[in-house]
Amino acid sequence: MKIYPSGKVLGARIVGIDLAQPLADAEFRQILRALGEHGVLCFPNQRLATDAFARFGRLFGELGINVANQFHEPGFPEVMVLSNVITGGKPIGLADAGQGWHTDMSYSKEIALANVLYAVKVPVRDGRPLGDTQFRNMHAAYEDLPAEIKARLNGRTATHDFAKFWDMMRARPGSQRGPLTAEQRAKKPPVSQPIFRPHPITGRAVLYCNPGYATRVDGMPEAESVRLLDFLFEHQAHEKFFYAHAWTEGDVLMWDNVGTVHNAVADYRADEPRYMRRVQVMATKDYARLAA
Ligand SMILES: [Fe+2]
Repeated sequence: MKIYPSGKVLGARIVGIDLAQPLADAEFRQILRALGEHGVLCFPNQRLATDAFARFGRLFGELGINVANQFHEPGFPEVMVLSNVITGGKPIGLADAGQGWHTDMSYSKEIALANVLYAVKVPVRDGRPLGDTQFRNMHAAYEDLPAEIKARLNGRTATHDFAKFWDMMRARPGSQRGPLTAEQRAKKPPVSQPIFRPHPITGRAVLYCNPGYATRVDGMPEAESVRLLDFLFEHQAHEKFFYAHAWTEGDVLMWDNVGTVHNAVADYRADEPRYMRRVQVMATKDYARLAA
């Protein structure tokens, strides 16, 4: 196994490993460390059956099951399908997943360590792959915050609400999303998250506040909260924190879901099929110890 850092603010390619085979403990630890260090890991040229894909994800923590997920691989509720493919007049996957900057599961009391996607079908136009996934580095964004903002928000929490992103997506023209049911809402009430938190692998502070889900800074007048969130969202959007992954079929992409925010680019059409499998790795292990 060889790790090639991108040389950019995020990203590394890991080659010489077949994720369909069981991983040696040393390889697992090396990947975990690389996830903390590089944030976005690409394993190219993988051929993974759904059970092997889920098994790889499960090495890193329990797999989450999305509260509003009606699209998953048959027999694998934890393997979500992200796709714009329509079969027999019906969508087979969530077509608009992640189109807007966010961090998965920040609306949940139990946060997610990582996202793992497997690219089965990638749209390509004029030789260029479409549907990039974009990232921003929240280790770097925290470090680069002005000292007075760090001091002002140290120990503070923000409210994160699943409904914010859902309703934003629903409001888009042509959205297939229905309103959240009372049951879905009740399963995911708004939660408070620390705005700065130690990263579970690196132990370093990250900015854990994203425009997809964060609705307000807790315990502060609304105007002040709006001003601070606007500042944080503008700050983290700086070009120097940015990284994009252009997909190739067979890529397994694993990204740090605590130390990055991400965005799915919707630059492909309905007649340009895209099909991804996804698992969400919940932060259920002692990663600092495993990575030591
Ligand atoms: Fe996402």
